[in-house]
Amino acid sequence: MVYLKVLSILIYIFSCAWHSHGSHEIYPEYQSLDIDDVNTTYKTAYHFQPKNHWINNPNGPMYFNGVYHLFYQYNPWGAVWGNIVWAHSVSKDMVNWESLDPAIFPSETYDINGCWSGSATVLPSNKPVIMYTGIDLTIRQLQNYAVPKNLSDPYLREWVKPKNNPIAVPDKGENASAFRDPTTAWKGKDGHWRIVVGGKRDLRGMTHLYRSKDFKNWIKAKHPLHSVPNTGMWECPDFYPVSLSAGKTGLDTSMLGGDIKHVLKVSLDLTRYEYYTIGTYLPEKDRYVPDNTSIDGWAGLRYDYGNFYASKTFYDPLKIRRILWGWANESDTRDDDVAKGWAGIQLIPRTIWLDPNGKQLLQWPIEEIESLRDQKVEMSNLKLQKGDFPEIKGVTAAQADVEVVFSFPSLEKAENFDESWDNAENLCAQKGSQVQGGIGPFGLLTLASEKLEEFTPVFFRIFKAQKKNVVLMCSNASRSSLSPNLYKPSFAGFVDVDLTDNKLSLRSLIDNSVVESFGEKGKTCITSRVYPSLAIADNVHLYVFNNGSETLTVENLHAWSMKRPTTMN
Ligand code: FRU
Repeated sequence: MVYLKVLSILIYIFSCAWHSHGSHEIYPEYQSLDIDDVNTTYKTAYHFQPKNHWINNPNGPMYFNGVYHLFYQYNPWGAVWGNIVWAHSVSKDMVNWESLDPAIFPSETYDINGCWSGSATVLPSNKPVIMYTGIDLTIRQLQNYAVPKNLSDPYLREWVKPKNNPIAVPDKGENASAFRDPTTAWKGKDGHWRIVVGGKRDLRGMTHLYRSKDFKNWIKAKHPLHSVPNTGMWECPDFYPVSLSAGKTGLDTSMLGGDIKHVLKVSLDLTRYEYYTIGTYLPEKDRYVPDNTSIDGWAGLRYDYGNFYASKTFYDPLKIRRILWGWANESDTRDDDVAKGWAGIQLIPRTIWLDPNGKQLLQWPIEEIESLRDQKVEMSNLKLQKGDFPEIKGVTAAQADVEVVFSFPSLEKAENFDESWDNAENLCAQKGSQVQGGIGPFGLLTLASEKLEEFTPVFFRIFKAQKKNVVLMCSNASRSSLSPNLYKPSFAGFVDVDLTDNKLSLRSLIDNSVVESFGEKGKTCITSRVYPSLAIADNVHLYVFNNGSETLTVENLHAWSMKRPTTMN
């Protein structure tokens, strides 16, 4: 039994690492400049991506003087990871983007081998500062900062690295290749600034805490803000307050108070997925204590149960909300990426806030994205019997935004839930979208070919457990493409919902090679990257389906074709 568990963890780590760049490996043979000729078949229309080459993590997102800035990890010379700089794009609405020259690139001994992830902080004097990890001459990871050269340039095109860099180096005995990704700073009541930096000691993942009076000199605290054994390197930590009472209203990162909980998110390098906890920040001790309702480890809550990594939030003072940016890697092969001439997209920014139940976060695509909605179709009160899959016609199914509310007459036909099914992904892989159930599987068949040789289903399945119903949300890529050699995982999460109204809702943002789905108003989210060989462009179809014995009703369905932004790089 123990052997099997260890084996399945190893297989899992392996399959997650299969399509990632976990070890920061460089492939010299793929670092070439002449990739202007990109293959656009799987390019997204309204998800952020540059013209060509490799991208990874969103970095230092911020709003400053009327402009949203997105920096991101970028390889200017190839479609694989390497030569990392901070590429820079600006926007007024986070939908239309203008790309600028890279803001931060290797130039000094302390970052000559790469400018890795980091965050921006807008100081109360209205001056932005970027903190980032530099890879130095000896391949150590160091923390540096950069400031705008000219604050009156509305786009903040140029950034300078002050003389007192680096501002934090790994301690003696500390692992110099596991010390990276500084967060946005927050200010304590004592007037001192704090940041955390991701790290590990042996297999204990941690967030090193640093304090500063002047934002120039930083002193390491004796203890980390938080650490958890056996979780490995914590990449891209994010630490921020959320309100227990203010609904969707976001809080600036330094906010403290009785009505406030904190979120700590980390990206686990070992498995290439993220988890977060909700908890209490103790400012006097500078420690973070997760609530006992949050699992603090591998099985913890995730922003997204699919292809979503190295995310970062920022506070948007314009609309008083907190926004989450996440990166989706490709799930094709390295050779495919080299042939395409590009790899990686940023997912649609999401507003993120605390569920009124205080136990998890909720997410929803930023409202600005609705400006791309075009041709619309609607359905209501449509009965779906077992095996029905009517087509949603009249929208461009390759590029669409679909919102649907399903209802079921009762929960009587729900199948029994076996309490040993603690892994949603295994359950999703086992049951799929086609194995008949009681209530469900039901949902959408996205990026489908006409005769359903290919499809990416996004769906629910409801079970009856001893104390309550269990809702599984699943996006299973096993039938997404006829092409072999692709990573076709079953992504899944449970949805913590009480179902008192016998309804479940789903929204999917479909964009050529990505399907981003939001279950039950943002309680559970799943992103899939897929590469159909038939279901491309005008040959893509969209269906709603039910493969459960209980007849369901599509209470209402709204689907829109999605336009391309006017400017995207
Ligand atoms: C996460 C990560 C970060 C690092 C960056 C390098 O994907 O490995 O930890 O700063 O990417 O590009």
